[in-house]
Amino acid sequence: MKITTTNAPAAELETEALILAFPEDADKPTPWEAVDAAVGGIVSAALAGRGFDGKRGQTLALSTPAGRSREIVLVGLGPAAEIDLEVWRRGVAAAATKARRRGNGKIAVPLPEIDGYDADALAAAATEAAILTSYRYREFKAAPAGSVELEEVLIAAPADVADATERAHRVADATSWARDLVNTPSNEKRPDALAALAVDMAADAGLSSTVIDTAAARELGLNALLAVGDGSAVGPRLVLLEHRPHGVEGPPTVIVGKGITFDTGGISLKPPAKMADMKSDMAGAAAVYGTMRVLAELDAPRWVVGVTPLAENMPSSSAYRPSDIIRAYDGTTIEVLNTDAEGRVVLADALAYARTEYEPRCMVDLATLTGACVVALGSQAAGLMGTDDDLCDALIAAGETTGERLWRLPAWRDYDKIIDSDIANVRNSAGRAAGVVTAGMFLKRFVGTTPWAHLDIAGTAFLDKATPYQPKGGTGFGVRLLTRWLTT
Ligand code: BES
Ligand code: MN
Ligand code: ZN
Repeated sequence: MKITTTNAPAAELETEALILAFPEDADKPTPWEAVDAAVGGIVSAALAGRGFDGKRGQTLALSTPAGRSREIVLVGLGPAAEIDLEVWRRGVAAAATKARRRGNGKIAVPLPEIDGYDADALAAAATEAAILTSYRYREFKAAPAGSVELEEVLIAAPADVADATERAHRVADATSWARDLVNTPSNEKRPDALAALAVDMAADAGLSSTVIDTAAARELGLNALLAVGDGSAVGPRLVLLEHRPHGVEGPPTVIVGKGITFDTGGISLKPPAKMADMKSDMAGAAAVYGTMRVLAELDAPRWVVGVTPLAENMPSSSAYRPSDIIRAYDGTTIEVLNTDAEGRVVLADALAYARTEYEPRCMVDLATLTGACVVALGSQAAGLMGTDDDLCDALIAAGETTGERLWRLPAWRDYDKIIDSDIANVRNSAGRAAGVVTAGMFLKRFVGTTPWAHLDIAGTAFLDKATPYQPKGGTGFGVRLLTRWLTT
């Protein structure tokens, strides 16, 4: 998609569809009077009662026989006092979609004034919205004949927003790429293939990469990762990506992503109903890859390591089984009671390895970890747990800005004893009560004293129903959030 910026006033923009945003119940076309005058007052007529009152998400297309653009698309932002960056983002997405469906491949978006946000923030949000709402997974099925794609977006503001727009463009493209990885069917992204995709990306973006293959994992004693991968003909991998700019002092920050390339549940086999969705069980790894790509592209002045344990959780005669006890990389013994609680098992080794290998300033993991998180928070927020309040607050704030909401859950000691095992240090499954929290408590056993936060993205990484800028399927959740957190 081509995205450009201009200082030209709204009335002078030439495009196919001009997007004008309004709060609810605006009675005058402020600040778009000049546009209104140029098109014979059709905007003020619409505001005066012809089917548009600015309700959040409402759109109305007006054809402009006399104007510079073929159409004007009005979009409502709802009550003025409640307009924030996410409302604006969704508004732009709704308007862009409306414009495109009416055959417009080029839109212009003059920025409105929204209390509390500068032009850079609004331009970045508009850029993200236009790109992300246009995303489709087209690897195996072409676009319907005759459908119009959004090709050009012109963002207009009195200030110079070119830089913010360019950065947002890269972040949104990396998010789309992470969506592609999640939407890729699991026969095309088994652990060896997904590792290769990550390495190719790293070479293109200028990151260093290391793949610890199955044999090397055995040498190192990554036994938890190996156990989960045992059932698959394609063994597990641990992929390490590193962005280390010149002159930046350590210690590094580590981001860890769960990369189960398909989760059948293993011997504790899942029911067939929604098993196909488990191609998305590597969405944490995809978020890490997307983030690492942006950090390199933006030359971010921060030392960051991405760690992704990749494995395919399959039932077979070589699969790990309930009752197995595994000695993890750090020596902790894990009693496996349910082979479907595999995410925490691979992350145990990834976190312990990352902590001892890099001695990071902090670690953040992202994982499609529990169905219990989906029950608790749905697709509206990811679960957050952590050992460090400042780290958790910073992640929450980043997510508020990007529209990727986090809701913190307790990591109290009281929850920890639930996962004690009678015959090992810890058990990997502990009944239904507080399932999202006990999964996080399991991870906490492997982080030592390193400040740590965990995002359970089971509900937010893959949608069965579209939202304004997220089609069904992979969302790329985490790429924008982590990038924001790591670059501000
Ligand atoms: N990948 C699943 C969690 C999941 C469920 C993600 C639904 C997205 C949507 C995870 O590996 C899993 O199976 N967790 C089990 C844990 C249980 C066996 C303790 C679960 O949540 O049922
Ligand atoms: Mn599972
Ligand atoms: Zn899983």
